[in-house]
Amino acid sequence: MSYTVLARKYRPQKFEDMTGQEHVVRTIENAIKLGRVAHAYLFAGPRGTGKTTAARLLARALNCEKGPTATPCGVCQACTEIRDGISIDVAEIDGASNNGVENVREIRENAKYLPQRDRHKIYIIDEVHMLSGAAFNALLKTLEEPPGHVKFIFATTEPQKLPDTILSRCQRHNFRRIPQAAMLKRLQQICAMEKVQVTDRSLSLLVRQSEGGMRDALSLLDQVLSACGESPTDEQVADALGAIDRTLVHAFATALVQRDAKTLMQRIEEVWSRGVDLRRLAEELAFELRHLFIAKSTGAAPEELAETDRDAVLLLARDADAAQLARLFDVVHGSVWEIARAAQPRLAFEMTLLKGVYLAPAAAIPELIARVEKLSAGASGGRSGAPSFRAS
Ligand SMILES: Nc1ncnc2c1ncn2[C@@H]1O[C@H](COP(=O)(O)OP(=O)(O)O)[C@@H](O)[C@H]1O
Ligand SMILES: [Mg+2]
Ligand SMILES: [Zn+2]
Repeated sequence: MSYTVLARKYRPQKFEDMTGQEHVVRTIENAIKLGRVAHAYLFAGPRGTGKTTAARLLARALNCEKGPTATPCGVCQACTEIRDGISIDVAEIDGASNNGVENVREIRENAKYLPQRDRHKIYIIDEVHMLSGAAFNALLKTLEEPPGHVKFIFATTEPQKLPDTILSRCQRHNFRRIPQAAMLKRLQQICAMEKVQVTDRSLSLLVRQSEGGMRDALSLLDQVLSACGESPTDEQVADALGAIDRTLVHAFATALVQRDAKTLMQRIEEVWSRGVDLRRLAEELAFELRHLFIAKSTGAAPEELAETDRDAVLLLARDADAAQLARLFDVVHGSVWEIARAAQPRLAFEMTLLKGVYLAPAAAIPELIARVEKLSAGASGGRSGAPSFRAS
């Protein structure tokens, strides 16, 4: 049996299955219900966030035998053909390879004729920003007075490259990067449907690496499952993604917060002999400190963390001090570049960590100021010398 990649297998087949684009979906559903569908749409946003998916869903909504409807049946000929990209009345055109004026002229010629079978003739043009200037001009004429049966749906990752004349004739929808918590939930559902066991911690690593693109997240999941089987450990997943296991990162953060130089040095020895990429580790550590800082500031661990990690982060944040976390973040984040360039990355990393132990003040700034003030108030009779900022 051939394997269908997850991104294709789990392309949303209903508007309600689209993750994280509620604002777009709601507007389009309403337009369909009210019979106020525009004649040209522009879907703009980062790759893998659902533009093509939404374009096909809209095409189905318009051409479904039971439609026009915001809930296309999914089983009629129009619906299934659109899903498979073979509908006679819905053309999916790649703007990058059909970017000439002659391509647009052909569309214009074709658009004049009534649909062969369904209600509308729909042109989905992907990467529409790639069209040539002459092609845009030709397109403009059609956009100005399109035949009633014609709908255009343009998709682009670079809307800023479109001429204003085109922009002003389209109803524009901005697709967002998918929020991390929503993406985590969708991945959990897909894992359940696939009957594979990937921990929340691993999924949340995957979510972070995908940077808001669902296609990327699902490709990474494919990669993990094919490399590690159906119930991979966190360590295997981290390895497969070229990432660093969170347990290790959290251990470094804990030792830093606790100013435990000895443990830090032992850990470095450990990761060094395992061949861990120290720059990546420093990056991850900076992230962890960011999580801690957020937890400290808001009283809640960031949502994109797996449930199992949230408690640990919250607990450690409670022990830490906001000023200390801020300084630790600066020190570690600032060292990433240095470590990457260093002839001896280990040396650079060690010094970073030790600086972290000594530099960060242990008490909150207001507390320190109060202490300094108290000292200086009693300075005449008190002991001389600068107060030590390092509480032990
Ligand atoms: N908003 C979303 N909700 C659920 N899945 C999505 C979403 N966006 C993308 N995907 C997944 O990624 C795949 C590619 O999405 P696609 O719509 O082609 O992205 P785009 O056209 O924006 O690059 C889909 O088949 C689907 O599996
Ligand atoms: Mg696309
Ligand atoms: Zn249908």
